[in-house]
Formats: sequence, structure tokens, C-alpha cells
Amino acid sequence: MLNINHITKTYRKGGKSFTALDDVTFKAEKGDYIAIVGPSGSGKSTLLHTIGGLIHPESGQILYKDRDIYSLNSHGADLYRRENVGFVFQQFHLVPYLSVYENIKLVCIQPACTQHIESYLEKCSITPLRNKYPAELSVGEKQRIAFIRAIITKPDILLADEPTGNLDPLNSSIIMSLIADFHKEGGTVLLVSHDQGTAKYAGRYITLQGGKLV
Ligand SMILES: Nc1ncnc2c1ncn2[C@@H]1O[C@H](COP(=O)(O)OP(=O)(O)O)[C@@H](O)[C@H]1O
Ligand SMILES: [Mg+2]
Repeated sequence: MLNINHITKTYRKGGKSFTALDDVTFKAEKGDYIAIVGPSGSGKSTLLHTIGGLIHPESGQILYKDRDIYSLNSHGADLYRRENVGFVFQQFHLVPYLSVYENIKLVCIQPACTQHIESYLEKCSITPLRNKYPAELSVGEKQRIAFIRAIITKPDILLADEPTGNLDPLNSSIIMSLIADFHKEGGTVLLVSHDQGTAKYAGRYITLQGGKLV
């Protein structure tokens, strides 16, 4: 379903260049759960953002269902991101001026999506928080809301960049079991983690070192 073909990404800063991804190639099939592991600075986040259509690589292709996402026009790229990919980050990126409910509703275009918000709030035990604002929430609660926002549109692929990096063990296990449920229902998961305990949920590992797959 996803073909990552010879991806190279170089950052340039102050006349210097730095190769963050060096000829990375692998495949993900529908229903895969892949952990991307490796030391800090090895290119994990860059890889995930590239797959999500957020960072344009210098060379190589990201094929989603045989189409190169970086050959799409900007409307096509928007659709790819909006309809097929859900993101969860270590920093939750909730909108501070919107309530819990409104933060989730923000991504719903179809009425059917909005209709599911209440049941997801219930499943994630945050129904009583629906009218609160992000500043009033604990980090564990914020991540559950970010998670709902990522999957409420029923994307094929969930891209999670150290989603438990700021959480305590209890909240980590809540998020990991929500991701596991998404996977059980047929979703494809790419999870960046440097925590072995978290990566153990995956069926397959990909290890990056200095931007290369090892
Ligand atoms: N916007 C950027 N400009 C310059 N260098 C960057 C930028 N983003 C990341 N890097 C560098 O690229 C390397 C890989 O970063 P990253 O993908 O965030 O690694 P990881 O997620 O594995 O810690 C790091 O050395 C980082 O400093
Ligand atoms: Mg990172």
C-alpha cells in the first residue's frame, strides 16, 4: 500500500548541508504495524513527516496505492493528507482557543465524522471534558484528544511520532491500547519510538542510523 523508494532528504542551514535520510527504501502493507526505531537525530521524524506528505524529499518517491504523493498537485496532496493519513505527535498540537469537542470537530468534513465524536470521547473516558480547553487538561488527556482527532476521519494510515514521549506509564498504556485497537480494526500504523516497551506492540521494526536503514 505504501512504497517508500530511495528517499533522500538533506537539510541546509547556514551554507552547510546535512543528510537526514539517505536512500531509505521499504514497504508497508495494509494492516502492518511498523515501529521506526533508532537514536535521536537518526531521521525518524523526518521519515514520518515525509511519508505524511509534510516534507518534500530531494529524491525518491512515496507511493501510496501506486501513486507518488509528491507528484500530486496541492489539492491532491491535501486530499492525501486529509483522507488517508492521521498524525499523532509528541507535542499534541491542539488549538488552544477551541474546546475539546471543537478541536476534534475541526477535522470533520462529513456529518458522519461529527456523529462519531461522542462515542470516541466515551471510549477514551473523556466525555466529561468535552467543553474544556487544552490548558485545563492533563498531558494524558491532551494526547487522547489528539489521538481521536487523528483517527476520527478513519484514515488508512496512522503516523505516530513518539506519541507517549511526554506521558506517564498509565497514560502511555492507554494511548498504546487505543493505537492497538486502530490496528485491530485494519489500520496501518507507523510508530516512531525509542522506547522498547512501546515498540514491542509492532509486528516489524525498521531501524535508522545516521539517516540510513540498518
Ligand atoms: N529543519 C531542519 N533543519 C536542519 N536540520 C534539521 C531539521 N530538522 C531536522 N534536522 C536534523 O536532521 C537530523 C534528523 O532529525 P530527525 O528526523 O528529527 O531525527 P529523530 O526524529 O530521529 O530524532 C537531526 O540531526 C536534526 O538535527
Ligand atoms: Mg524525532
